[in-house]
Amino acid sequence: MPSGPAPQGTSAERPVKIGLSHVRKRFVAGGHDVTAIEDFSFEVRQGEFLAVVGPSGCGKTTLLRILADLERHDDGEVTIVRKDPARPENSMILQGDSVFPWMTVRQNVEFGLRLRRIGRRERARQSGHYLERTGLTRFADSYPHQLSGGMRQRVSIARAFANDPEILLMDEPFGALDEQTKFTLQQELLQLWESTRKTVVFITHSLDEALTLADRVLVMTPRPGRISTVLDVPFARPRDVLSLRRDAHYGDLINRIWTALKPGAPAPPGTGTAAGTGTGTAAGTGTGTATGADTAPAPAAAAEGAAR
Ligand SMILES: Nc1ncnc2c1ncn2[C@@H]1O[C@H](COP(=O)(O)OP(=O)(O)O)[C@@H](O)[C@H]1O
Ligand SMILES: [Mg+2]
Repeated sequence: MPSGPAPQGTSAERPVKIGLSHVRKRFVAGGHDVTAIEDFSFEVRQGEFLAVVGPSGCGKTTLLRILADLERHDDGEVTIVRKDPARPENSMILQGDSVFPWMTVRQNVEFGLRLRRIGRRERARQSGHYLERTGLTRFADSYPHQLSGGMRQRVSIARAFANDPEILLMDEPFGALDEQTKFTLQQELLQLWESTRKTVVFITHSLDEALTLADRVLVMTPRPGRISTVLDVPFARPRDVLSLRRDAHYGDLINRIWTALKPGAPAPPGTGTAAGTGTGTAAGTGTGTATGADTAPAPAAAAEGAAR
């Protein structure tokens, strides 16, 4: 698939939506002092789809929780440029179930709109649209326990988009799904995103998923999480999950991300750098391991981010 110009110009031409400058986050718990994020400077442009990959425990979830204002950073600055104060700053989609089991599918999808006191008719219009887009119309009056895991993730996606947030934050949303369901949901997310062009930060373990969905892939170092490298993903949109994998550049990009994930790896040649920040190369600290487990589970995030 040839690479073509993005409809809204290259990402570097679009205004900055999310800015992180020298962000650091340390956890002190039970006598242990863990620096999760260190000297993290990066910009995400309006309408950009950014994927973040990195070894387990490197601080990806912490980064997302800082962006969602669920975690306070110790140093540095985080800026999210808001256009409309009436809209929520963010919506989060997590790996596990974040739908409310006591609400029907439609009530879940309308939850954020209800919080904002949007009228019944407008709520029905919005939820109807996103239920349709996610193939959930038939299940509007079902309860989550009556649905498969994939369908429940569709409810989360429909809810997040119906909420019309300034930014969408996703933390391995398809990580627990079987391969076939994952493919289908990736394709659906691509279509939804391509018609809304929300600013997205998407965390994933899967290099395939990162390349399939994102405009750029940010690779983090092992803990403390810094930026190892940032790669542009040149595939034209609209994208098709399956045909992408036949693209000649695909294997090369996988290889570059894989190389950047190796602890202490220098940035592979030809990779992009963190635009405008000057911090896009590997810090290569060599601390931590690529297999470091998530030792401290982050507290359950609120399904919908509060206003900053
Ligand atoms: N609330 C917390 N208290 C103490 N340590 C934490 C807390 N949350 C995360 N950590 C630690 O911070 C590091 C990064 O965690 P996390 O952001 O969840 O990593 P990732 O999502 O990349 O797997 C890990 O070492 C983890 O144990
Ligand atoms: Mg995580």
